[in-house]
Amino acid sequence: MAEMEPTAQVPFEGSQGKVQDIASTELIERDHATVARAIYRYTDVAFDWGEGAYLYDFEGRKYLDFAAGIATMNVGHCHPAVVEAICDQARTLIHGASHVAYMRPYVDMMEALRAVAPGDLKKGKGILMNSGSEAVETGIKLARYVTNRSMIIAFMDGFHGRSMGALALTASNSAYRQRVAGLLAGVCHIPYPYCYRCPLKHESPQTCGLACLNLVEKMLQTVLPPDDLAGIIVEPIAGEGGYIVPPDGFIQGLREICDRCGALLITDEVQTALGRTGKMFAVEHWDVVPDVTCVAKPLGGGLPLGAMLARAELVDAWPPASQGSTFGGNPIACRAGLATLRIVQEEDLMAHAVELGDYIQSRFREAQKELPMIGDVRGKGLMVGIELVSPDGSPAGETIKRVIKEIAASGLVLTKCGISSLRIAPPLIITQEQASQGVDIIIEALRRNE
Ligand SMILES: Cc1ncc(COP(=O)(O)O)c(C=O)c1O
Repeated sequence: MAEMEPTAQVPFEGSQGKVQDIASTELIERDHATVARAIYRYTDVAFDWGEGAYLYDFEGRKYLDFAAGIATMNVGHCHPAVVEAICDQARTLIHGASHVAYMRPYVDMMEALRAVAPGDLKKGKGILMNSGSEAVETGIKLARYVTNRSMIIAFMDGFHGRSMGALALTASNSAYRQRVAGLLAGVCHIPYPYCYRCPLKHESPQTCGLACLNLVEKMLQTVLPPDDLAGIIVEPIAGEGGYIVPPDGFIQGLREICDRCGALLITDEVQTALGRTGKMFAVEHWDVVPDVTCVAKPLGGGLPLGAMLARAELVDAWPPASQGSTFGGNPIACRAGLATLRIVQEEDLMAHAVELGDYIQSRFREAQKELPMIGDVRGKGLMVGIELVSPDGSPAGETIKRVIKEIAASGLVLTKCGISSLRIAPPLIITQEQASQGVDIIIEALRRNE
């Protein structure tokens, strides 16, 4: 969808009158000269501005956005109500620090978050941070403090962040840990129920008797004394690990194990909460209420904001000065997030996410008949994973990197998850026509690479 050749000094239609004094290639060169190559880039695109479900580069090329800033921009780019909330708050109070004094957007955000939370968390309490990693680490600190136990169970294929504490829980890619010794101790990993490639080699989740849940039991019998278990942390749908939906009964089973051991169920909903899967919280798909939940990504409407929300009696047991952050709960981020949440509710974007997610999955299931490269189609709402496979059924890890770059050159940006899955996570405001266009671009690219 190359709409225009590079024209560095000429304003293009839709550039909001700005004269572009830089070309994308020049910006990328400057980036390479100054920014750590540790940041992996899925595409060779440079974004100048965005509106709704579209992003534009410095040459005015338009890209349909199936990445949403990694499942973050739920109401699209620069939604007028979000922009207005940001500007209004910027004129009012930019920063105060929650340790210094009380601030209204912070309290408004905590009230709004718990109002949409499941079960007992509706009366819960929490703390605002700046990111998903910090929200997760806050949950772990709370669990250890209130249980006075040290051990944590986490899952392979799980992603919880890259800071040293969160990284100790993350197990979606060993490269993240390379030469980073001395992570948080006391974390045991068990395989996530990745049914398409069952780690226990069972044929189907209908007949395996939830063998992966038995692994948790086995660990508690053999390695980890139940009385030492502070909590189990789990993504209700594994995000970075491959948009893997666990079988029914798995999350409920973890809840039962935690109840039996007196441990806390900590859900990492950084990628899944606030509408993306068609529910406010993904645990609602299985009617489970965790003790602690961690949220970020769409929470700040595109600005850095994370939250840990837990049952009130747990949070009340945590003494003053146990946790904090200079920027956590920044007033502008809270206002942007509140505006975003309001739009998701008022425009019923969760129902829309279900409808369009089902449509996208059905298109790929249809395409699967002619394209053996499509191994698995899975997900909930607008969190859709398309696992690409080689002719022998192994993950098509190298192909996917090429395919994503080709797709970007055709005017659609998206990323990958797991070893070889396309990660489809557009803004929830995407229209049926845009969804259809995006799927067409992807299927065309897969045909070329089949
Ligand atoms: C499930 C999950 N938890 C935690 C994180 C870490 O969030 P952040 O990058 O904001 O630190 C992510 C980020 O992708 C995530 O998907």
